[in-house]
Amino acid sequence: MKIVSTVAEVREYVKTWKKQNKSVGLVPTMGYLHEGHGSLITKAREQNDKVVVSIFVNPMQFGPKEDLESYPRDLDKDAAFCEELGADLIFHPEPEEMYHKGFSSFVDMTVLTEELCGLSRPVHFRGVCTVVSKLFNIVTPDRAYFGEKDAQQLAVIRHMADDLNMDIEIVGCPIIREEDGLAKSSRNTYLSKEERQAALILSKAVRLAKEMMENGEKDCLKIISAMKELIEAEPLARIDYVKIVDQLTMQQVEIIDRPVLCAIAVYIGKTRLIDNVYAG
Ligand code: PAJ
Repeated sequence: MKIVSTVAEVREYVKTWKKQNKSVGLVPTMGYLHEGHGSLITKAREQNDKVVVSIFVNPMQFGPKEDLESYPRDLDKDAAFCEELGADLIFHPEPEEMYHKGFSSFVDMTVLTEELCGLSRPVHFRGVCTVVSKLFNIVTPDRAYFGEKDAQQLAVIRHMADDLNMDIEIVGCPIIREEDGLAKSSRNTYLSKEERQAALILSKAVRLAKEMMENGEKDCLKIISAMKELIEAEPLARIDYVKIVDQLTMQQVEIIDRPVLCAIAVYIGKTRLIDNVYAG
């Protein structure tokens, strides 16, 4: 496995692979890798001849008051993890390599980014769409892998690839959880012992929604109220949003009469965590 930091080096590797008719899978990440990322790399390993993992804490997708500076980083550990899972190449650029002086082109999206994380994090998806477009142009993969953990991001990327005729198969992968139910996240490292325990409220709330929907509840208000009541009973939790949206458009629905996504964002202390479940 090789680790490179420039666009030119990635292009060199990919050019050679393509000449040999090898298929290429890309797993975009911000590093501090865990089994959630690992499941994407493993899937990419199964489906492609070559696997590229990008590790880049993308400044453009962080708001001014967000955790860009404190976002956890550990390249050595990440590299060992990628090697173990059989990745072929890590692309780990510096911000200046991705955003040279005078950078002024962006990929943005309307509708799908108006709700959920798009509402609470106004610049987030413009940053995600721009960096993912750049990674697609740099790596030119056959397939790219994204987790359902960030369900709105997955929907946005699928939509972007379709809208902009990107000839790349977008592969979604299920949420990987800790044994007690907490969705794995690089941000879980911010949690104190007490907060780690309190964070279980997210997966509990999502499980409650799933049960209600499986038992035939169609009224979104009822489901959302039950979830909010459960979360508000946890003193360390503060709700950012609890919503049920159309799986494709990410617009809110009142009655479950189509495939939906029930998504939540909750602050546990200062740490903002997300979780979700698909239904319908
Ligand atoms: P990051 O948060 O590092 O996540 C990289 C990928 O791993 C995303 O597709 C995310 O959904 C997936 N992932 C994270 N935790 C997961 C879990 N518990 N189970 C399954 N998949 C999980 O998402 C980003 O980085 C960035 O926005 C990025 C797409 C790299 C653009 O900068």
